[in-house]
Amino acid sequence: MQYDFSNLNDRRHTNSLKWDVSEGELPMWVADMDFKTAPEIIEALQEKVGKGIFGYTIVPDEWYEAISGWWQRRHKFKIEREWLIFCTGVVPAISSAVRKMTTVGENVLVQTPVYNIFFNSIVNNGRNIVENKLLYDGKEYNIDFVDLEKKLANPQTTMMVICNPHNPVGKIWDKETLERIGELCWQYHVLALSDEIHCDLTNMNYNYIPFASVSEKCAKNSITCIAPTKAFNIAGLQTAAVMIPNEVIRHKMNRGLNTDEVAEPNAFAIEAAIVAFTFGEAWLNQLRLYLEENKTIVRAFINSQLPELYIVQSHATYLLWIDCSRVIQDTTCLCQFIRRETGLYLSEGGVYGENGKSFIRMNLACPKERLLDGLQRLNNGIGLYEKSKKIRALGSKIKERKVHFCD
Ligand SMILES: Cc1ncc(COP(=O)(O)O)c(C=O)c1O
Repeated sequence: MQYDFSNLNDRRHTNSLKWDVSEGELPMWVADMDFKTAPEIIEALQEKVGKGIFGYTIVPDEWYEAISGWWQRRHKFKIEREWLIFCTGVVPAISSAVRKMTTVGENVLVQTPVYNIFFNSIVNNGRNIVENKLLYDGKEYNIDFVDLEKKLANPQTTMMVICNPHNPVGKIWDKETLERIGELCWQYHVLALSDEIHCDLTNMNYNYIPFASVSEKCAKNSITCIAPTKAFNIAGLQTAAVMIPNEVIRHKMNRGLNTDEVAEPNAFAIEAAIVAFTFGEAWLNQLRLYLEENKTIVRAFINSQLPELYIVQSHATYLLWIDCSRVIQDTTCLCQFIRRETGLYLSEGGVYGENGKSFIRMNLACPKERLLDGLQRLNNGIGLYEKSKKIRALGSKIKERKVHFCD
């Protein structure tokens, strides 16, 4: 079956977080795609709606089978049934883990720039954020292992949150890197939490590696968060899972999730996950191809029209991390300017950490026609910004001269 990703679905006035913007604005920020989900999922949910009863829901065997089947087929990793716990979302699971597995005043380590909501899960629960800043060599990101070890060795650091693949830099961590992280976490008694929500959104011919699959130590000392929500564009259904091979950690985490009341599914969460992970393969493969074409379009456009920008090398997610340091050091004002002047709504890099300040994040999960509109707006926005910068510089020179003259 051929799936169509070119439909310009109108999401205005639908209470969409992404599309609740002013008329004429084009949102390319939050990680939410403009595509309808797989028809197989829509059909299953329509059937559910047709029955008209939305009572309390249980987690059936099919849910466990669908997840472990998917990971076995697509990621070559065997997940045992008892390792899995349903959760209403990855962020609720992370917040719950922070509360249950660490204590107030302890440190939780993150690798910045990183998905900004990790900061909330840590700070809102009275824990400290410790940053292991990723090293950027002007092309791609790598881990500063000397700094990582120093920070994990601090006895106050009790949890590390890994983003695998990484949002916003789009990196798929390789086996050796994950193994090294796992070894250090084990050595310093730091619990590893691996957020793998973007794992199915890799470029064609690239595969992610589940953290728990790389070594015995990684498996025994980790909580992994997984979900069909990013890959199948069903974030609003609030359906995720935590996967914990270690029985002791699992028991504790199960208590945490239940105490926080985030372990019970809504009426659509289970069907959607089962169908996605059982029948979603063909749709997802075509989606990945479409996203990769979009990436090629953006690269070609930026290379030819905006060579002062640089797209960081990445092999996962539909989010592009764009280095704007040759235009500006802090994109906060640039993003506001572009939005005001062209309506294009991008994410400013500073929200992902101080070291993300000279970047912007662009969501390219939309039909090509809309993508081209976004690129044109970006081009206009940057052009206008450069022009206004020149005018401002000229203005201040005139002012300087005036002062000089008056002196
Ligand atoms: C890395 C990462 N984790 C978690 C989430 C959100 O997960 P959920 O909607 O399941 O809470 C996002 C959403 O963009 C994300 O990028």
